[in-house]
Amino acid sequence: MKEFYLDYAATTPIDERVLKYVEPYLTTHFHNPSSLHTHAIENKKAINDSRKKIADAIGAHPEEIFFTSGGTESINFAIKGYADKHPELKEIITSKIEHKATLNTLHFLEKKGYVVHYLDVDAFGLVDLKQLNSLINEQTLMVSIIYANNEIGTIQDVKSISKICRKHKTKLHLDAVQAFGQIDFDVQDLDVDFLTLSSHKFYGPKGAGALYVKKGLDIEPLIHGGSHESGHRAGTENLYGIIGMGEAARIAKLELEQNREHYHKLQIDFHQRITKVFKDIKLNGTPCGSNRSYNHLSYAFKDILGYQLHFQLSKRGIYVATGSACSSGSITPSHVIEAIKLEDEYQPCVIRITFGKYSKIEDHDEIINRFIESCHELKGE
Ligand SMILES: Cc1ncc(COP(=O)(O)O)c(C=O)c1O
Repeated sequence: MKEFYLDYAATTPIDERVLKYVEPYLTTHFHNPSSLHTHAIENKKAINDSRKKIADAIGAHPEEIFFTSGGTESINFAIKGYADKHPELKEIITSKIEHKATLNTLHFLEKKGYVVHYLDVDAFGLVDLKQLNSLINEQTLMVSIIYANNEIGTIQDVKSISKICRKHKTKLHLDAVQAFGQIDFDVQDLDVDFLTLSSHKFYGPKGAGALYVKKGLDIEPLIHGGSHESGHRAGTENLYGIIGMGEAARIAKLELEQNREHYHKLQIDFHQRITKVFKDIKLNGTPCGSNRSYNHLSYAFKDILGYQLHFQLSKRGIYVATGSACSSGSITPSHVIEAIKLEDEYQPCVIRITFGKYSKIEDHDEIINRFIESCHELKGE
């Protein structure tokens, strides 16, 4: 049976070119970058080259990039690290549709006495800017917002958000884990203070991430120890992860336009076909072509349970997600679906389809057929 992977928002396979590029760092170039002998110094240089590639890809300076173990760690680092340096500021603003990495970091801080405000979103998942304007005050430590939503694909109006933050001299952290490789952004232009990236979402190795910290901002390390990452993140570096991430970022930036075109064709074609067959399904998030990730479709079906459809599709070699990959298998609607106030009858069945650079438009017929078969079996038809 031919298998179809349609869960690129959960993770991507490593790009063959990246794999080839990092292979020596798993074998011959194994030396500890903190050692002082020749090959170790070469490895240190390779890490800094990777830092530069990431900085170049987002319009930052290399000194503003710190490597971490992934998106979750970067988010923890940005929020807790900045909070630790500014104990006098006890309010944080975020949205109701953040990734669990942000929400649970903030729940942790709530237990420590912080007041967290969760912004409402509209039916498309766009944050309420008026509410942000009214909540932000001199006690606000930071605003933390997800750029492209992992569950519903909505892309936020970051420039409007950053303008409000600037007006109030409040720092802005952007979770750009799903945005990088989809949106051609620049940290100076967006005017953000912290920005999170995760390598495995753009064809780099797993276990590597980065946090952009605007020059001049003070942030406490999350992990204390040696002087790695100029004292910002201790521990012997994940050499091949970091080097692979830089190369993956370089390729993602270089090929962004062509990938985006490819994703958009897939998105439009799939959407047209599936809505022809399933007349009463709803697209969650923003419409295709306007503030929506190009590789992303999220549908709500009626009279079917999401986890059951997910299972039927999986049995047929179609790999998608129900809502969010992290909450797969759960029948209760995700916090994102609740926040967009999807009608009750649609809430139990949300299926997320995310394309990648290896997805093919000619597979759509077969994929849709397997959707039809799965739904027939579930309805006993
Ligand atoms: C929007 C978003 N933020 C953060 C994360 C966490 O990233 P990581 O898996 O690298 O820890 C994810 C992962 O799914 C995500 O989609």
